[in-house]
Parts: sequence; structure tokens; C-alpha cells
Amino acid sequence: MKISLPTTSPLTSKDFVYGVATSSFQIEGAAEKREISIWDTFCDTPGKIVDASNGLVACDHYHLWEQDINLIHDLGVDAYRFSICWPRIINNDKSVNRDGVDFYLKVLDKLNELGIKPFVTLYHWDLPQIHEDHGGWLNRETAYHFRDYVEVVVREFGDRVHSYATLNEPFCSAYLGYEVGIHAPGKADRMLGRKAAHHLLLAHGLAMQVLAKESPLTLNGIVLNFTPCYPLTDSPEDKLATQKADDYINQWYMKPIMDGSYPSLIEELPYEQRPDILDDDLAIINHPIDFLGINFYTRLKYRAKAGHLYEEIPPGDVEKTDIGWEVFPQALTDLLVSLNDTYDLPPLYITENGMAGDDHVESGQVKDQLRINYYQAHLEALNQAIQQGVKVDGYFAWSLMDNFEWAEGYLKRFGLVYVDFETQERTLKDSAHCYKEFITQRV
Ligand code: FCB
Repeated sequence: MKISLPTTSPLTSKDFVYGVATSSFQIEGAAEKREISIWDTFCDTPGKIVDASNGLVACDHYHLWEQDINLIHDLGVDAYRFSICWPRIINNDKSVNRDGVDFYLKVLDKLNELGIKPFVTLYHWDLPQIHEDHGGWLNRETAYHFRDYVEVVVREFGDRVHSYATLNEPFCSAYLGYEVGIHAPGKADRMLGRKAAHHLLLAHGLAMQVLAKESPLTLNGIVLNFTPCYPLTDSPEDKLATQKADDYINQWYMKPIMDGSYPSLIEELPYEQRPDILDDDLAIINHPIDFLGINFYTRLKYRAKAGHLYEEIPPGDVEKTDIGWEVFPQALTDLLVSLNDTYDLPPLYITENGMAGDDHVESGQVKDQLRINYYQAHLEALNQAIQQGVKVDGYFAWSLMDNFEWAEGYLKRFGLVYVDFETQERTLKDSAHCYKEFITQRV
């Protein structure tokens, strides 16, 4: 029922940062007070969102922000990770939306007043539709528009912010959005994914330049998602295919940032699938970062397949969450240890970890023991990695509350807090009580 770790673990220290995370499109609503993003357009396209829902209201956090921040405070966390909605800050005519800026200023002021560290993500997928109309992340110019937007944010928010992450999970924006089409803007073309990825990485590098110059005291970095890859068998063919899968989905984003080069797999891709890389691009992308955020949920298995780089094997009869992702905490330890062996890492933060559950309120209670077990197992796995020498400074549960889970709509509940989307009533799940108890008992 509880979450607990040995008191000898650095994870039970007050110096370790615990938080909860959300993102703008998933919780804010108040769509009428901002410009349209690619996710609005995607939601309006029949068949794209499982329950045909959208982000027009979501958790109505735009109006309920004060109550939500008080809830975060009640959980006893040290930090709150949330994202800024680009089309709420910059109007289509390029002017600044004062109402949008003021909304985030109120949020930031309240967090600081309560002693909660604001971890701000500058881009969690809600690209202004106006940029998509000009090619979106396939257009190099979008990276420069992002830089201009970041300049505005930094100027407006100043030292109210504790940490800035440029992008959340560029893999999802590029691969899911432009290569397989299950996320906005819904383009499905193998030729497009790497090109979009390169412009996202360029946007990250350009934003890092702005942050380093205009906001040197905040903790500036990026959030990447990793899905560790395991071979189906020990055969050399399956191992090689697995390594290629890892390069394609994980290291493709990590290596340019850390080493200033793409994985050698790039040489194996047909020319038309490769990105257009200009002279200074990789040096810009390779800008030093103060921290790396890691989002971890699950692992995947692969095997060799003739004529393909690799073949992904769907999880079989194993423990899975409500969204179908295998529960495999060992992969978190393996991932962190292997990243530490491979790269010269900055301090790490686990910026997302959590699970979707089939949650229900019964007599005012949500009994989500599976989620408690998930957090327990993953904190243990994190502890293992730390014992093996990996430096991790913080951990954020995804998510503070149930919200719009992208293509799954409101059907997948990831929150520590249950949201009734009809009434907007929030109910702390059992996992929220356990997370709170664990955090507040630290010494
Ligand atoms: C991550 C996203 C986050 C949430 C979780 C479940 O990929 O960053 O917004 O949807 O998955």
C-alpha cells in the first residue's frame, strides 16, 4: 500500500527534488483565449482521437489554476513541471498576448510564494497552426520562430522560473507527428520524420543559445523520452537490429545534443530520408546543457527482419498498464547506467514516469494500488541506478491529474489526482496519498 525506500537511499533525502508534471494542451482548456495549435486541428480531424474529444476545455486549468496549485502544494512536492503554450504567448500577427503572459505570471508567482520550484517546458507539442501552415517542423524557419518565442518568454518571466526545458520529447513530435502520423500534424511519411527531427533539434540548440545568454541562472536543458530496446533473442542478428532500433528512436536525439553527431545509422538511410544539415547545425545542437530530463514509461523488444532496419515485437503476455505498455522497471536502471557509460552526462532529472490505470471513484476513494506498485518499483529501479553511480537530482510523477492523453483522448488516466471531466471535480487517488506520505517523510 505504501511507497518506501531504505533511509540510506539518496532518494529519501530532502535534497532530492520531487515533483509532478503536466503540459499546457493536456490541461489548460480556454482555447478561445489563444491562437489555434496543431493539436486543435488534429482533434478536429475525424478519426484521429479515439473518443473524438479535444482540448477546448480539458481540465479547465486556465480557470482552476489557483485551486490546482494549492493541490500541488498539498501533495508536499518540491517542484512543478508544466509547459507554456506557444500560441497563448505569441499571436498570429506576432504581437505578444498579454492575457496569456499574465496567466503564466500568476501561476509562477503563486508557485514561488508557496516555495514550489517552477520547471518550465517551452514546447510540449502545441505548435501554432500558423507555423504548420508554412510546413511546421519540416520548415527550417520554424526553429527560428521558436527561438524568437523563447526570447519573449525569458524576457517576460525572468527569474521567476527555476528551470527551462526547450522541448519535450522531440521523438514524439518528429516520429509520431510526421513519420507515422498518430500525433499532430498527422503526416505519415518515412521521408519526413528525420527532417522534422533535425529542425526540432536545431530549435533546441537555438533556444539554448538564448537561455545561456538571457537566463544563465536557470537550469537550462531538454527533456527526451527513452524507450530502452531489448533483443528478442541473443542471436547476433537480433542484437544488431535492436541496436539500430535504439539508434533510430532513442540515440537519434541524444547523440547530436551530447556529441554533436548523428548515430552512424544515418549512413544507412536512403538519401531522401536524411535531414538537410547545414554547416553549423550540429555545433548549435551540441550546445552544453545544464540538465537532461528523462521521460521513462516502458521498454520494447526487437528482432531482425530482412529488408528492414528492425522489427518491433508487441509485448506478449506480460504485465501491462491500461494503455498497453509493459511494466518493466529494470529497464529504467539499465537505461540510466548505459547512458552514464556512453555519455558525459549533465545532472539528470526523471521528468516523467507513471502509468495509465482503469481508475474509478468509489465512495470518494480511488483505489489505484497498481499505480502505487508502479511508483514503488520505479523508484527502486532509480535507486539501483544511483547506487551504480548515476547522478540523478529529481523525479517527477506523470501526471498531477488525469488529462487529455493525446490520440487516446480522455480515456487513459495517468493522474495522481482523478478528474471528473463533467464537473471538473478533483479527487486524490490512493497513489497521491502515498506519494505525499513518501515525500513528506524525507529527512
Ligand atoms: C509522454 C508525454 C506526456 C504524456 C505521457 C503519458 O510521452 O510527454 O504528455 O502524454 O507520455
